[in-house]
Amino acid sequence: MSTDKAKLIYADQEIELPVYEGTAGDHAIDITSLYSKHGLITYDPSLGNTGICQSSITYIDGDKGVLRYRGVPIEQFDRPHPNFIEVAWMLIFGRLPNKDELELFSRTLTNHELLHEGIRSQFQFLPAKAPPMAILSSMISTMACYYDEFLSPDDEPVFLEGVSRLISKIRTIAAFTYRRAMGLPYIYPDPALPYCSNFLHMMFSLPYKQYEVKPEIAKALNLVLILHADHEQNCSTSAVRVVCSSRANLFASVSAGVNALWGPLHGGANVKVMEMLDAIYRGNRKPQECIEAAKDKTNPFRLFGFGHRVYRNYDPRAKILKKAYERVCQIQKISDPLLDIARELEEAALNDDYFIERKLYPNVDFYSGILLRAIGIPTNMFTVMFAIGRLPGWIAQWKEQHENPTAKIIRPRQLYIGNPETDYVEIADRE
Ligand code: CMC
Repeated sequence: MSTDKAKLIYADQEIELPVYEGTAGDHAIDITSLYSKHGLITYDPSLGNTGICQSSITYIDGDKGVLRYRGVPIEQFDRPHPNFIEVAWMLIFGRLPNKDELELFSRTLTNHELLHEGIRSQFQFLPAKAPPMAILSSMISTMACYYDEFLSPDDEPVFLEGVSRLISKIRTIAAFTYRRAMGLPYIYPDPALPYCSNFLHMMFSLPYKQYEVKPEIAKALNLVLILHADHEQNCSTSAVRVVCSSRANLFASVSAGVNALWGPLHGGANVKVMEMLDAIYRGNRKPQECIEAAKDKTNPFRLFGFGHRVYRNYDPRAKILKKAYERVCQIQKISDPLLDIARELEEAALNDDYFIERKLYPNVDFYSGILLRAIGIPTNMFTVMFAIGRLPGWIAQWKEQHENPTAKIIRPRQLYIGNPETDYVEIADRE
């Protein structure tokens, strides 16, 4: 913490405000006493310039395109060894797990991979073709009905048990959602398989034929999940924190996160990117038409997979995903025309003044979809995959919020611009 002060001059007041310094050199002016002492609020619609918490989970330098989990640069996870489970543990508990901790976590996940029969039977009450994100958020909410011992976890082993249920069962819920939509029988988890392979098994095995999980595919899925695992105070994470701040339980908070992620400006962008690439491939649209539509302020269309609230540079996750996709194509001997279209679109945008001036670069969603497609995941499940990946981040941020003894309920203010005081008019007297 720095002892610096900022000065705000307003009317005849000179107001001194404390300034804090983060461990990576960022500075933040503390305006918390501005209203109580001076009757002023700050105006920051969309919270584009407001720090809502102090956090030690994830660091982003948007100008340089830097992303670190608990201090570790994201690029260091693009190696054969790191797996999603250890990254999840690291995000939640603050450091890399040792061998025993990782084994315990892995065992606990395996113990909880089945769905409670009550939750499983709920699938039949939802339309088979319901949006997978709607199913996911309701199933996670429903978990609060079955696991009330985890609604207010007060010690770490209990918390770990609750967290393991969520992280383990989310992939079973996702796979069952897909199987039901396809009219296929549910395939139960196989305790002998690791996290990603087990998910692919539940998605693609048949009762009479085990799906053979290729190591490079499991590795690619592992990387996709790791790259989505946290991203500081984005829309869905903030939703999780807001709900948590009312002292709501983990399941309720994460379910809110899933709903926030669903939107096309956030996690839902990966579906929109695929639709856009597909429309170009089918000849329904030309790349330049997409660019022009995105630039047209009278058109709500956006170049999906481009731009970011924080990054003013290439999203480091997109760089890694692009390389990973090229690797998978090479190993699988796939030549995907959508990759050429994506490259063409990217080049056109990066050379267009509109995108250059606004520093709009590809974000994580630009290349994640085509990689997920190469893994075999259908488009309508892309945002669910994002949610599986983001879950450890939501949990870590929930824990940080929950354990902060000074945290208060998150309750922003507003600048009222409606009618001044008016009178109630009886209905007979209204015009
Ligand atoms: N296409 C066209 N114009 C854009 C785009 C885009 N993809 N992104 C930003 N802009 C424009 C925006 O209209 C604004 O223009 P002007 O200055 O003329 O008003 C300018 O660029 C600056 O925008 P911004 O304030 O940086 O954008 P924002 O922080 O409000 O929104 C965003 C960030 C991600 C919602 C936005 O870039 C967007 O809609 N991108 C497309 C959707 C997308 O790919 N979302 C995934 C985000 S990354 C993963 C995730 O969080 O899920």
